[in-house]
Amino acid sequence: MKSEISNLKLSVKSYGCQMNKLDTALVISALQDAGFSLTASVKDADVVLINTCSVREHAEQRVISQLGHLKHIKINKPDLVVAVIGCMAQRLGDKLLEHEAVNIVCGPTQIPQIAGLLKQALEKNEKCLAVTEKILLKTSESQNQTLETFESTYGIESSTNFHNSTIHSQYQHDKSLPHHKLRQSSVKIGAGQIPSQAFVRAMRGCNNFCTYCIVPYVRGPEVCRPPDLIIEQIKKLASEGIKQVTLLGQTVNSYKYEKNGRTWCLADLLDAAAAIEGIEWLRFVTSYPSEEFFDDILHVMAASPKVCNYLHLPAQSGSDKILRAMNRHYSAAWYLELLEKARTIVPGIAIAGDFIVGFPGETEDDFQATVELLTKARYKNSFIFKYSPRPGTTADKRLKDTVPPEVKQKRIAALLTVQEKVSGQLSRDFLGNQVKVLVEGLSKKAHINTAGGKNNPQLVGRTATDYIVVFNGPYSLTGQFANVKITKTSPLTLFGRLIKDFDL
Ligand code: 5AD
Ligand code: SF4
Repeated sequence: MKSEISNLKLSVKSYGCQMNKLDTALVISALQDAGFSLTASVKDADVVLINTCSVREHAEQRVISQLGHLKHIKINKPDLVVAVIGCMAQRLGDKLLEHEAVNIVCGPTQIPQIAGLLKQALEKNEKCLAVTEKILLKTSESQNQTLETFESTYGIESSTNFHNSTIHSQYQHDKSLPHHKLRQSSVKIGAGQIPSQAFVRAMRGCNNFCTYCIVPYVRGPEVCRPPDLIIEQIKKLASEGIKQVTLLGQTVNSYKYEKNGRTWCLADLLDAAAAIEGIEWLRFVTSYPSEEFFDDILHVMAASPKVCNYLHLPAQSGSDKILRAMNRHYSAAWYLELLEKARTIVPGIAIAGDFIVGFPGETEDDFQATVELLTKARYKNSFIFKYSPRPGTTADKRLKDTVPPEVKQKRIAALLTVQEKVSGQLSRDFLGNQVKVLVEGLSKKAHINTAGGKNNPQLVGRTATDYIVVFNGPYSLTGQFANVKITKTSPLTLFGRLIKDFDL
């Protein structure tokens, strides 16, 4: 029987969006506090924790196949505890607990209990279920309070937002390692966060009920965090060396909080965060196309050099008929007007989109309307998904998944081709320009880019407008700002040469 948590090793796997990555980081921080230490290898682990996503079926299938693999490992390692947390845990509850490999099922609202649940599973060898029964109802005050305390306790360390710190610093000092080793060595344990960058939740849940989407059913109704706690958290992160903060919410632009007779919106949060010393760049994702607060947010973006000129504004479809069936509250023409307004108020703003192809009833004409919208929108990049029916959603209950898989495949490929063309054109505009990037670390892929010091590894950074920039430079630049001259472009990546201070 294992009861000494201080000797236990934890292996973590995380799927899904930024929101999930943030949850993973908070859970890791809490479990390290409880005495666990991280391992990158499942074979060495006493506990395997999987943070899951339910947005598309594919993400769930990957978890199921991983659980199959863990079931085999458990034959020789019966004491191994497997905890499934997050959206899939909430969606499947006790059905998931029936899986032979699973010891703990813990929904997103119960993550503050995770250390206690693990202790229980380790000591008593019991299966534990912790999910919210009626998640569509308003979350209770005590539940919100518990989540808030968890968030403020574990969301303030830069290490929460960057778990590679030990590995990272080890290599900062080891200049003798060849580049491919350096790349391999930045093992992704934890949530794979980036130094000097942090994610801060502005709001939880969603009230929108787009007919295809599982999020309101697994994360519950919208709850905005108090602005003073968000600002306090950002101040603490800044004091730990965090330079970039990304505010998170499913519809973060609708952030609203009443306090002492004043309504705080996202623009107010950005304004207050921009005043914090040490914070240099502020971002926010994801936005819902809506007029409310839109101008205020754009004006703050235009006025503050700290608020990055970037907007992630999913359209989902260009067909008004499909938008109605999706319960999105806008038309394609209105959406394009919104983009125009954004570009007028913030010249040079980069906009990214999301699309779903093959939604029930999507005809060739509907799809062509999406192609048209995407072409006109001139997105920097788009995330394009095939419709995946999610059990319990309105679309799944009321509409038949009519578009055959091969048609969905054809449409996704066609849309990606159009986007690639637009992205290629926009990227080419950077040729010869100098850009400022926040360096994230070693580039994951070795690109053929010989511009600049061959004795340095290939690094990757992002511009304020979210362009990915690859260049050679010293590893010690990780987490720092750098200037890069763009010498080559591809649709999704800019390549360049580091500009040394004396070049300026
Ligand atoms: N099928 C396919 N894509 C989906 N998304 C959300 N739900 C589904 C679904 N059921 C996409 C939307 C959303 C992104 C996070 O995932 O485009 O913006
Ligand atoms: Fe899902 Fe729509 Fe809410 Fe986004 S806005 S999380 S797509 S329900």
